[in-house]
Amino acid sequence: MTTPAEKAIAAGLDPNRIPKHIAIIMDGNGRWAKERGLSRLAGHIQGYSTVRTVVEAAVDFGVQALTLYTFSSENWNRPKEEVEGIMRLIAEAARKELDDLMKQGVRLIVSGRLSELPEDVQDSLACDMERTRQNSVMTLNLAVNYGGRREIVDAVQNIAALVAKGELAPEDIDDKVIAENLYTPQLPDPDMLIRTAGELRVSNFLLWQIAYTEIWVTQDLWPDFTRDDFIRAISDYQKRIRKFGKTADQV
Ligand code: FPP
Repeated sequence: MTTPAEKAIAAGLDPNRIPKHIAIIMDGNGRWAKERGLSRLAGHIQGYSTVRTVVEAAVDFGVQALTLYTFSSENWNRPKEEVEGIMRLIAEAARKELDDLMKQGVRLIVSGRLSELPEDVQDSLACDMERTRQNSVMTLNLAVNYGGRREIVDAVQNIAALVAKGELAPEDIDDKVIAENLYTPQLPDPDMLIRTAGELRVSNFLLWQIAYTEIWVTQDLWPDFTRDDFIRAISDYQKRIRKFGKTADQV
């Protein structure tokens, strides 16, 4: 059996500098479909196929966590047909992928306001989360009905409630307390953020967590994104010097 380190080396990557956590803004499904005269939903269906490719590649190279921006809190404003199609796709994918998640040792978690999702989507995601709870090869975090500002609002409300109950003093609120009250306290901050389809913005994604994240943008549309593109992104990440506010000589 080939280990993740061997697979990374075979792909030309340094196995000791694989990003622990990669976050992805999967953009361009609509444009991909439009270029082909297809419905926007056809673009999302093709995008789902890219999700499978990238999850497999991430597992292969030993990435520990992968966060995918699947549906934002603002995406509800899209045409009803598209929203319903994406919800159906998420529910179906959750049902279809469970076996593969188990085989790959992937734990599924979901971040966002889940109680606002259609019940069948909640149920199928909850089922996968429960069944994959003990898997430890990689964590796949789907951001669904997710908004970065909302996440911070929700964290502030939790913290304020602790203060009101006398369980926390205001002066004890620090970075750690805020991070612990975000949706995914169990995940480290992303080392790298990949965005497809060329836009140079963060679109309300992981606003707190990406403070020192390395950003990599490609013009490729998400449905066209390949395993080689993923390798290219990691390879570029491995050439960067992460300074965290220090000088290049200090790090
Ligand atoms: C952005 O492209 C993509 C989305 C809002 C949906 C992402 C969903 C998937 C990739 C499919 C389902 C995924 C899983 C995990 C089951 P866009 O529609 O904004 O593209 P555009 O900017 O070209 O219009």
